[in-house]
Amino acid sequence: MSKSGDNVVSEAQIAVHWREEEVFSPSAKFIGQAYASDPAILERFREENFPECFREYADLLTWDQYWHTTLDSSNPPFWKWFVGGRLNASYNCVDRHLASSRDKVAIHWVPEPESESTQAITYQELHRRVNEFAALLRDDCGLKAGDRVTLHMPMVPELPVTMLACARLGVIHSEVFAGFSGGACGGRIADSGSTVLITMDGYYRNGEIIDHKMKADEAVITAEAEGQEVAKVLVWRRHAGQFASQSPMVDGRDFFVDEVLKDYRGQLVDPVSMRAEDPLFIMYTSGSTGKPKGAQHSTGGYLAYVAGTSKYYQDIHPEDTYWCMADIGWITGHSYIVYGPLALGATSVMYEGLPTYPDPGRVWRIAERLGVNIFHTAPTTIRMLRKVGPDEPAKYDYHFKHMTTVGEPIEPAVWRWYYETVGKNEAVIVDTWWQTETGGFMGATLPGLMAMKPGSCGPGVLGVYPAIFDENGEEVDSGSGRAGNICIRNPWPGALQTIYGQPERFVSVYYEKYCRDKDSKDWHDWPYFAGDGAVKTADGYFRILGRVDDVINVAGHRLGTKELESACLTVPEVAEAAAVPVVDDVRGRAVEMYVSLKPGSDPDGVEAKVAKAIEREIGKIARPKKVWIVADMPKTRSGKIMRRVIASISNFSDYGDITTLANPEVVDSIRHHVQSEKMASHDVPRELTFDEIEEINSFGKE
Ligand code: PRX
Repeated sequence: MSKSGDNVVSEAQIAVHWREEEVFSPSAKFIGQAYASDPAILERFREENFPECFREYADLLTWDQYWHTTLDSSNPPFWKWFVGGRLNASYNCVDRHLASSRDKVAIHWVPEPESESTQAITYQELHRRVNEFAALLRDDCGLKAGDRVTLHMPMVPELPVTMLACARLGVIHSEVFAGFSGGACGGRIADSGSTVLITMDGYYRNGEIIDHKMKADEAVITAEAEGQEVAKVLVWRRHAGQFASQSPMVDGRDFFVDEVLKDYRGQLVDPVSMRAEDPLFIMYTSGSTGKPKGAQHSTGGYLAYVAGTSKYYQDIHPEDTYWCMADIGWITGHSYIVYGPLALGATSVMYEGLPTYPDPGRVWRIAERLGVNIFHTAPTTIRMLRKVGPDEPAKYDYHFKHMTTVGEPIEPAVWRWYYETVGKNEAVIVDTWWQTETGGFMGATLPGLMAMKPGSCGPGVLGVYPAIFDENGEEVDSGSGRAGNICIRNPWPGALQTIYGQPERFVSVYYEKYCRDKDSKDWHDWPYFAGDGAVKTADGYFRILGRVDDVINVAGHRLGTKELESACLTVPEVAEAAAVPVVDDVRGRAVEMYVSLKPGSDPDGVEAKVAKAIEREIGKIARPKKVWIVADMPKTRSGKIMRRVIASISNFSDYGDITTLANPEVVDSIRHHVQSEKMASHDVPRELTFDEIEEINSFGKE
C-alpha cells in the first residue's frame, strides 16, 4: 500500500478516542470446569518456549508418523510446521473417534423448515457417508491427492461429508460460499484449476427453496472462458429423488450424487497418509486488488491449530453441545464447525437457514431443543437478533456456558446485550479476532483465566505474539492511545502457506511491509502484516479498529472495493465507479456505489443495472444499499478517485480539507445531491463514534 500523495495520515498518528470499558470476570462455575484454568499454560506458551510450545497442539492429533522438526524456517516466509510428520485429516476427524464414540452425534443438522426433522449424524454414520463419497470421488471422478476440487454448497450435512471425503484422498477442496454467484464461483474454479465442481440442486433460505444448480451452469461457462474445462458437475439433491432446480442436467457432465452413490454402498477407502505440509484446502478471500486470493492451508499445522484453539478458547468438552452459527462457506465454518470440533470428537450443530426464520425466537428454540451450551456467532447476527427480538432469549430455557463473537468489531452496547440477555449473565464471552489467512484465532481471552472487556478481543492467543507498528516499523507503546498496524511477530501453525499459485503476491501482501531483512532466515525479521488498524491498552488487550486496506466488511464478510467497482464497469453506460462503506446498524457496514456515466449515456435504469451487475458478479451479499449517479468523481491531481471524500458524504461526516483536489468544486454538488435525498428519505445515519469517523476518513487513502 503506497502512502504517497495527498492526505497522508499515518495510522500511528491517529489519536483514538474511546473510553475504557469496565471488565467482566468469568464465573467460578465456568472456571471450575475450564480446560485452561491453570496459569501454567501461559508459561508453557511464552516466547522462550516457541516454537516447541505448539507440540501441545499437535499432540491432540493422531499421526501416522511423528514429525522431526517442529518449525522449519529455512525459507522465509514459507514456514513449514511439524516437518517429517504424516497424518490424514479425515481419519483425525472421524475414524479415530469410532472406538470410543461410535454412537455419539458428530453433527446435528437442523433444516430451515420446522416441519422437517433434525438429523443426528453419529460418528459411525459420518464415517459411512465420508467413505462412500470418497470412493465415488476416487473411482468415478479419478481424483487423487493434490488435485483441486471446487465445492459450491450450502449449509447441508453433505458439505462436511464432501470436505472430509476430499481430505480422505488428499484432494484439496475449495469451497465457495453458496450465496456467491455462479460467475464468482467460476473465477475460483479457474484460479484453482479444478476439473470437478460439486454443488447442490437447492436449499432453503427464508422459507423458500433457492434454485442453486442454476449457478453451476454459469460457473462452468465462466471457468471455461478463463481457460479451465470442467469435466464433471456432481449435484447433491436436497431431497433425494426430487429436483429443486429449473436448470436441466447436462448429459455426460452433470450427475446426481444420490444415483451414482448407490454403486458405492458400504465401500471403504483407506485414508491417504499426507505430509504435514501438504495442502488441505484453499479458501478465497478479498484483497485490495481485484482478483480474490486463494489462501492455502496445510494439513498438519492447520489441523493442530484449530484443534488446540477449539479446546482452550472454545472450551469444547466431550459432553458439550456446540453450535457455531457461521456458514461453512467461510473460514469460520471450516475451522470451527468442521475441522476443530470434529478433530476433538465433539458434537457440532449445523443450521441450514436464516436465524430469524420463521420468527425471531428460532435460534433460541434450537438451542433449547438440542441443549446447546456453547454458542458462536458474529456481531452482525447479534445486532439483528437484538433488533428483531430483544426479549426473545428470556422466553426459552437454554443455558450457555460459553459464547464467541467473530468477524468484526462488536460495539460495547451490543456486547452487553449478548452478555446479559443471550448469555443470561451466566456465559463467558470470547471475542475472537482473526482472518481467513490465519486459519484460527489470533487475538482472544483465555476464558477461564482472563477478564472480558467489551469491544476488545484481548491479548494474542497462546503462542502468538502480536505487536502494533507505525508506518516506520516502530512499535507503538501499549497504553499510548495511538493506533497502528497490528502485526503478528512470529509464525504459527495455522497460517496460510501461500496464496494459491501466487507466491510473490503472498510475500508482498503479508510480509514485505515490515520485513527487516529480506535475506534473513530468522523469523524475528518477518512480522506478518494483518491489514487491520488496532490499539493496545496498558493491560495488553487489543481493540481492532478495522481494515486499513480497501476492503469493506459487510456483516463480517470482506468485500474488495476493486471487485465491486469492476462489477459496475460491466454495465455499458458506466465510465467510473467507486465503492464506499456506510455505517449500518445491523450489518456493521453497507456498500454504497458512486458511478459516473460515459458521455451521452442515458441514466435511466442505471441504478438497477449496477445493483444487478454486482449481484451477478459477486452475489447478493454485496448488493449496494444505494447507487448514486454523479457527474464526476472528486479526484487527486494524479487522477485517483478520493473515496475518503465520498465516504464522508455518504456518512454525513466532515470530509476535511479538499483544496488539494484537482476538482474540488464537484464535492459540494455531490454532497448536496446525496445528502438532500438521504434526508428526504429519512436515511440519515446516527451520529458516528470517533473510531467510525477515523475509519471513514482514512478509507481508500493511497
Ligand atoms: O478486520 C478484521 C475483521 O475481519 C477481518 C477478517 O475477515 P475474514 O478473513 O473474512 O475472516 C472473518 C472470520 C475470521 C479482519 O482482518 N475481524 C475479524 N474478527 C474480528 C474482526 N474485527 C474485530 N474484532 C474481531 N473479533
